[in-house]
Amino acid sequence: MSRHPEVPLVPRPDSMTVQPGRFTLDDRTALRAGPGAEDAAALLREALAPATGIRLPPAPDGRIVFLLDPALGDLGAEGYGLTVSTEAVVLRAARPEGLLRGVQTLRQLLPPASLADGPRRGTAWTLPCLRITDRPRFGWRGAMLDVARHHQPAAYVRRFVDLLALHKLNVLHLHLTDDQGWRMPVPAYPRLTEVGGRRAESDGNGLPHEGSYSRAELVALVAYAARRGVAVVPEIEMPGHARAALAAYPHLGNSPGTRLQPWTRWGVCENVFGVHDAVLDFCRTVLDEVTDVFPAPYVHLGGDECPLTEWRASPAAGARAAAEGLPGPAALHGWFMRTVAAHLTSLGRRPLAWSDTGTELPAPFTVLPWRDPEHGRRAALRGHDVIMAPFRSTYLDYPQSADPGEPRGQDGVLDLRAAYDNDPAPAHWEPEAVRHVLGTQAQLWTEYASTPAQLEYLAFPRLCALAETAWSTHRDWPDFLHRLDRHRTRLAALGVRGRTPHTVPAP
Ligand code: ACM
Repeated sequence: MSRHPEVPLVPRPDSMTVQPGRFTLDDRTALRAGPGAEDAAALLREALAPATGIRLPPAPDGRIVFLLDPALGDLGAEGYGLTVSTEAVVLRAARPEGLLRGVQTLRQLLPPASLADGPRRGTAWTLPCLRITDRPRFGWRGAMLDVARHHQPAAYVRRFVDLLALHKLNVLHLHLTDDQGWRMPVPAYPRLTEVGGRRAESDGNGLPHEGSYSRAELVALVAYAARRGVAVVPEIEMPGHARAALAAYPHLGNSPGTRLQPWTRWGVCENVFGVHDAVLDFCRTVLDEVTDVFPAPYVHLGGDECPLTEWRASPAAGARAAAEGLPGPAALHGWFMRTVAAHLTSLGRRPLAWSDTGTELPAPFTVLPWRDPEHGRRAALRGHDVIMAPFRSTYLDYPQSADPGEPRGQDGVLDLRAAYDNDPAPAHWEPEAVRHVLGTQAQLWTEYASTPAQLEYLAFPRLCALAETAWSTHRDWPDFLHRLDRHRTRLAALGVRGRTPHTVPAP
């Protein structure tokens, strides 16, 4: 397709032809939703009402038409076709998910003021006439939000879901547990949130931090996200990054006499789960609750950065390795992950894990290689499905520039260009590796971001670039920058204060 700078959609659609003229929405505009299209219609109504006051009542002769149409099956589950003329807006897709993506396109085609959360009367609510045929490059387009290092209220997580949906991202990966905090209640283990959900301070700042979700909040979040076509994928970290759980239940550790507190430092902690039966029982019970609350087909089991120090020193771990016929404590990691994954599989779910090397995880895992993209290729050639999460292009906890005013982050810089250059399945990879790439996701680790404003400053505009690499087959940096310039007006209408070359970082 040719570029259409006057219609700056992010992510860029697969193909678009712009025509003269505009369609105008007003109080009399009605919407006809065919069978199966009602949820998408409701989402558009809900999205437009606060700013525009337009209600889009249902009517058989409505000039906005939403239809499920099996003839568009070639576009896949999330593809859609959109035609806007001066007389009508027709959105069609083979599946409801495709209609939900089309709703986000409609939101972006309207004036940015339509995205505001309060009345913006006096604007002409018009859309350019055009024809779009669109479909995603990858089925997994996500963002991980680390609510373990810093808890965020459920209301904020819902806003974050809205921001993902606007960019046609379809997975919210919630990092619910880590050394510094456990945020999900498990009825059989109440101390996980009571004790594991609060820590004395963060990296020497002297300020206590605490928070956890109720089961009802998580259930409501899942439903809220599902209405927007976003799956919530929970992560429970094991066997490392588990110190908050060890603080709550010392018998899960390798030296039960030791009393630990949720960790107050950042980094890789040496305290890890033990490998005795009580730990396996614990993990199974936790996963029973997790799969009860979260219906997503995948559950993330962590798996990264598990120091062997404690297992090497533990007679019980040595005995476990011998009993399982393992060559030594190092092999306990794969054994642990395989054993817990078997329980998840028995519940009808699929295990995910971070991969430190691309080669350490057993067969059933879909892996997220986070160090080197080459690890992704290696894992894919071994037969794993992969979700690309390399830190150099997807870790949004790195500063966005070397400017001295940039907020503190991990050491290094990940600029907008680096995020845009993320290629989840590079052209030089073997077809059998490419076939295993499910997609990619951004990582919002929150050691250095405790407030929504700080999170959004880190996420934007880099998340826009990530969304484009996950959705679009087009690679055109100048075109992206041009569209982003206009897209910033939408973000501003939503109250997002991301980085621009001239902004002072949010407090
Ligand atoms: C990771 O950054 N340890 C997944």
